[in-house]
Amino acid sequence: MKLFLSAAGLICLVAISASGGPAPKTPKSTPQLLEKGKAAYVANCDVCHGPNGDWNGVAGAAMNPKPRDFSGPFKNGKKPEQVFKTISEGLPGTAMAAFAHIPEEDRWGVAYHVLSLDKSAKKK
Ligand code: HEC
Repeated sequence: MKLFLSAAGLICLVAISASGGPAPKTPKSTPQLLEKGKAAYVANCDVCHGPNGDWNGVAGAAMNPKPRDFSGPFKNGKKPEQVFKTISEGLPGTAMAAFAHIPEEDRWGVAYHVLSLDKSAKKK
């Protein structure tokens, strides 16, 4: 029985990693990419996270859980790939929706812009 369960678990794991496809390549952060990301951030994220990512935007005030302060820890982690994933897939069960409609390149820009708003990282 135990053997059967671990075999089933293994098959699940294989199925999940196979369906993911190749991970998107992480582009370098350039001033141009950051500029695009900032524009997309202002258009899509500002209302909840605020222009500096450190306060609750107009829409965010009434939310539970509250929009993340970018200087705090992230559930999904703070690597550009991880923030990209959050933006692409959202956080299920919260007001943080998926923003897959933002073009991929701009999504990377948004990820870098989010990280640039993280004051805790700048102090280091
Ligand atoms: C409708 C409001 C809303 C909008 C718009 C919104 N967010 Fe969020 N966001 C949230 C909330 C609420 C959370 C916190 C969820 C939680 O606590 O689990 C969050 C969390 C996050 C996090 C933290 C993820 C983590 O791993 O903890 C990041 C990064 C983030 N948002 C980025 C963005 C970006 C970038 C955009 C624009 C593309 C955006 N958000 C737009 C509401 C919003």
